[in-house]
Amino acid sequence: MNILIIGGGGREHALLKSIARNPQTKKLYALPGNGGISSLAECVNISAADIDSQVKFAVENKIDFAIVAPDDPLALGAVDRLEEAGVKCFGPTQKAARIESSKIFAKELMTKYGIPTAKYEIFTDIDKALTYCATNTCPLVVKADGLAKGKGVTVCANFKQAREAVISCMKAKIFGEAGERILIEECLTGPEVTVLALTDGHTITPLMSSMDHKRAYDGNTGPNTGGMGVIAPNPYYTPEIAEYCMKNIFLPTIDAMNKEGCAFKGCLYFGLMLTKDGPKVIEYNSRFGDPETEAILPLLDGDMLSLMLAVREERLAEANVKFKAGASCCVVLASGGYPGICLTGYPIDFGGAEVRAGVEVYHCGTKFTGTQYVTNGGRVLAVTGIGSTPEEARERAYDSVRLVKFEGMRYRTDIGAMPE
Ligand code: AMP
Ligand code: GLY
Repeated sequence: MNILIIGGGGREHALLKSIARNPQTKKLYALPGNGGISSLAECVNISAADIDSQVKFAVENKIDFAIVAPDDPLALGAVDRLEEAGVKCFGPTQKAARIESSKIFAKELMTKYGIPTAKYEIFTDIDKALTYCATNTCPLVVKADGLAKGKGVTVCANFKQAREAVISCMKAKIFGEAGERILIEECLTGPEVTVLALTDGHTITPLMSSMDHKRAYDGNTGPNTGGMGVIAPNPYYTPEIAEYCMKNIFLPTIDAMNKEGCAFKGCLYFGLMLTKDGPKVIEYNSRFGDPETEAILPLLDGDMLSLMLAVREERLAEANVKFKAGASCCVVLASGGYPGICLTGYPIDFGGAEVRAGVEVYHCGTKFTGTQYVTNGGRVLAVTGIGSTPEEARERAYDSVRLVKFEGMRYRTDIGAMPE
C-alpha cells in the first residue's frame, strides 16, 4: 500500500514507525514530515493546512490510505476532501472534528447528553465577559473557542489574570478568530488523565492511559504548552475509573455524535480530570495527542496500520488491541523560549541517545540538512524510555536526555515524578 501521513511532528514520527512495521506498507510519504521522518518516508514540502495541494498529491501519487494527524487539516476538512477524491482516510470528517475545533460545540454536546464536565458560560461580548470575571470568585479558566496550538487556555488565579486573558482573546485577538468567542469555566482540581480511544462510530476501544505534563516548567508551573512530557500508563487511572468512564463518558460521547449526525471515526482524545465528584471531561481532541502518542506507541503490541484500517472499514470490534506490560516515560526537549518565540537552525548532537536499548528518540521539530539534523521548531525531540516499571522507564528516558545537546535546549526534569 502507498501510505500518506499529513503532519510533521513527534506524533507523526511515532505513528510512521509503527505503521512501517506492517508488511502491507510499500511506500510511505509525509506532508511535510521532518528530519527524523525523512529516514522512513519521502517528505514533500506541502503544509498541513494546504488541503488543495494535499488532495492533488494524494491523487497523483496513487495513495491507498491517508492519515490526517494534526488538528488544523482535520478542522479544514482534509478527510472530507480526500475521501471525495477517492482516497481512503483515517480521521474524522470536518463536522465530527468540531468536537475539538470548537470548545463551545463540545461543551454544548456534553450538556445536552449529560456528559460530566466543568460548569461554564459562553461570551461573545468583552464587557459581559469582564463583568462575569469581576463578579465571580477566582480561580476561573478562560478558553478561546477555536484552535490555538494548545495555548488558548488560561487558568486564572485572580481577577487581574482573568481580565488579561479575556482582553488577550477578545481585544488584542492573539488567537485571531479562534478567540472571538470565549468560554469561562469553573476551575476543577484533581489528577489529569489522557485516554486516546480508537472508534469507528460503533465500537470504541481505549488505548493505554497516560498523563501529559502541559505546563512549561518544573513543579507544574509556567504557561501551558502543547505538552512537555508524558508517562504511561496513568497511575491514577484504576480499572474502576476506566469502567466508569466507559459507561458515563466514552460510550455517551460516541452516541451523542451519532445522534447529532456527525459520527466520529478516528482517534478521539479524552482529556479527563479525576475530581472528588468523579471523572470530568476537560477537553476532547479529534486526533492522537502529541506527545501522548510518543509515550504509548512503543508499548503497543502489534502495529497501528492494521488498527487504522479496521477503523476506516468499520470493523474495529474484530480488531485485537493489546499493549505490552510495562511503562513508559517521554521527555520533550524544547528550544529555548518555547512556548514563546524560539530561534532554530542549531545542530543537534544526539550523543548516541538514539541507539540505546529501551529508548525511542522521536523527532518533533527537526530538519535534515543533508549532513546533519538541526532544530526546526519549539518542541525538537521526544525521548521515550520504556521499562518494566515506571522508575526504570524514567531512568532510561533521562539517561538518554542527558546525552543530547543543542543550543538553548530545555526540558522538564520532573516528568513522572509524582504528584503532577
Ligand atoms: P485544554 O487545552 O482544554 O486541554 O486545557 C489545557 C490545560 O488547562 C488542561 O490540561 C488543564 O490542566 C487546564 N484546564 C483546562 N480546563 C480546566 C478546568 N476547567 N479546570 C482546571 N484546569 C483546567
Ligand atoms: N498533548 C496534548 C495534545 O495533544 O493536545
